[in-house]
Amino acid sequence: MKYLIQTWGCQMNDHDSEKLAGLLAREGFTAAAGVEDADVVILNTCSIREKAVNKVYTELGRLREEKKRRPLLVGVTGCLAQQEKDGLFRRAPQIDFVMGTMAIQKLPRLVEEARAGRTRVIDTGDYPDNHLFPPETTLRHSTAKALVTIIEGCNHACTYCIVPTTRGPERHRPWKDIVGEVEDLVAMGYREVELLGQNVNSYMGGCTFAQLLDRVSEVDGLEWIRFTTSHPMNFTAELARTLVSNPKVAPFLHLPVQSGSDAVLRRMRREYTVEQYLERLGYLGEGRDRINLSTDFIVGFPGETEEDFEGTLALLEKVRYDTSFSFIYSPRPGTPATRLEDDLPLAEKSRRLSRLQARQTELTLESNRRMVGRTVRARVESRGALDGGHWLARTGEWKNVHVAAAEGLRLPFGELVDVRVTGAGPHFLRAEIA
Ligand code: 5AD
Ligand code: SF4
Repeated sequence: MKYLIQTWGCQMNDHDSEKLAGLLAREGFTAAAGVEDADVVILNTCSIREKAVNKVYTELGRLREEKKRRPLLVGVTGCLAQQEKDGLFRRAPQIDFVMGTMAIQKLPRLVEEARAGRTRVIDTGDYPDNHLFPPETTLRHSTAKALVTIIEGCNHACTYCIVPTTRGPERHRPWKDIVGEVEDLVAMGYREVELLGQNVNSYMGGCTFAQLLDRVSEVDGLEWIRFTTSHPMNFTAELARTLVSNPKVAPFLHLPVQSGSDAVLRRMRREYTVEQYLERLGYLGEGRDRINLSTDFIVGFPGETEEDFEGTLALLEKVRYDTSFSFIYSPRPGTPATRLEDDLPLAEKSRRLSRLQARQTELTLESNRRMVGRTVRARVESRGALDGGHWLARTGEWKNVHVAAAEGLRLPFGELVDVRVTGAGPHFLRAEIA
């Protein structure tokens, strides 16, 4: 039996797919090269915005055709599965099984039942010990960085967000289990880990998140620790100190602000004002300049006025984020924001998004240009020179670097190399081996 897992969404979902692959491998399944070759196709879905959901239904349409030609099992997992539950079977009868985000460990049983001919097999139960997934089962993608779950779920209640519905309340992994997993990863050859959670900095698995970073950083042989993602209200002065002073914690912070208008933040129930957000950023002190600071914005939230939007642009100007991700508000079924009046035309929302993104592109370019001439450490992320004549690498700041290929140059995958930055574009740096 061969399986194929298609993944949408965040790192959490990427990592869940690694867990699903491990469970199937344990049952003797092997990875298929493509859909044509697979006996089971699993769609590990995201439902953060409508666009993500549409992609899943498009793929389901394609699989319906494939199923007409030959026997094939189709399973849907992830956030859309948790959200829609058995409603998915009505909308897409070609689905054989549905599994929620907290029922991951039930995958082998669900596949077995579907193979035995049962139809509409489903488990979207709340399994509060899902975060205790046995780490040795995980089958990681071949990348230079290993993903490690530290917390699942989210206890905030942002009015636009589907995640508290799809991922449930917070569950914290004990810190000793996390350190143990990182030790095993280093023994396997990984030098970099990314600690994952919907809100890592509310971590309470026996210590604070800052303490967890320090404890993980004591693992011998580990070089960089990253983490994602954070809520500003849980961003403490203690965490800022660790981020700035612990050399193993990569100089990157993603701190989603969503809007630069207090009125909008209130309707989003973000729990902070612009001033409080800035105060928290201030915890970084002079360390701010060495950190790649990133954020998320939602544009066109219900009732967002031109003035509100100008507030967002003003905040962008003030903080000068090195990177940001911005999205047009997408109403999610059952979330409180769907009850707010939303009369702004989509064309206006798109115009605002373009303005914000155009300015961010300039700021990112400036941020990248500031690195030209510097020699920095970067991890090799390709196994050879690409067609464009460069190797791919990634700096501690999480910037892409294209390292010029040269006659006889061979860079060891996953290792750190010193590179001299020679040029900068909005999406990557150019560099030579130092
Ligand atoms: N519409 C648009 N963007 C959203 N995000 C979360 N929910 C929505 C939504 N309903 C964005 C937020 C969040 C990021 C992961 O996705 O900016 O930080
Ligand atoms: Fe998408 Fe959020 Fe689910 Fe991640 S947690 S897959 S971003 S809906």
